[in-house]
Amino acid sequence: MKPLRIALTKGRLEDDTVALLEKVGMNCDNVHNKGRKLILPIGDGSIEVVLAKAADVITYVEHGVCDLGVVGKDTILEHGGSFYELLDLGFGKCRFALAGPTGRNFFTGYHTKVIASKYPNVARSYFEGKAMDVQIIKIEGSVELAPLLGLADAIVDIVETGTTLKENGLAVIDTICHISARLIANEASLKLRKVEIECLAARMEQAKEEAQ
Ligand code: PRP
Repeated sequence: MKPLRIALTKGRLEDDTVALLEKVGMNCDNVHNKGRKLILPIGDGSIEVVLAKAADVITYVEHGVCDLGVVGKDTILEHGGSFYELLDLGFGKCRFALAGPTGRNFFTGYHTKVIASKYPNVARSYFEGKAMDVQIIKIEGSVELAPLLGLADAIVDIVETGTTLKENGLAVIDTICHISARLIANEASLKLRKVEIECLAARMEQAKEEAQ
């Protein structure tokens, strides 16, 4: 049978995901010594790890070229898509927040507020929930710059330690929701390779609980 393919988000979630796979007994030396290789067999070779950017993890899982994926709830909320969310992996914990210049009351005044975000869909649905009309501007990175430069009144962004906000004179105005890494599965794969996938998910859940 062909290996079960699991797409992992490169960067922040990568180390914790590999540590979890090692905890369930899979040798991940190929991932540690990957060089520039992007598809890496792990364990006895029955699983293949694919390293990808967060949004691409969802794309590969949705299209069925990867059976499973590990991706942040932030990307899931922003990107959406058709797949199963199997497990909260318990790492990559942070939150979505509305943040703005310290000491300024965001909710006063009558002008249409400008919001900068890397997550325009999350920002839109947050303000729709508040029945607030805002202008949303998409920024690709270091979104904290937007209020500092006078482009936006506030930002919707991920807050982990809060250091980036603090060091730039910004503060959380409201927490939107909590975020962590999730195990997702392609819909067809979950039917066709149900036993393998459920067995791996159960082992990952057990390893997560043992670590807590
Ligand atoms: C994220 C987020 C904040 C920062 C928050 O950015 O967009 O800028 O981390 O972390 P903190 O609360 O621990 O300071 P990231 O590092 O992913 O980089 P980017 O803004 O360039 O995308």
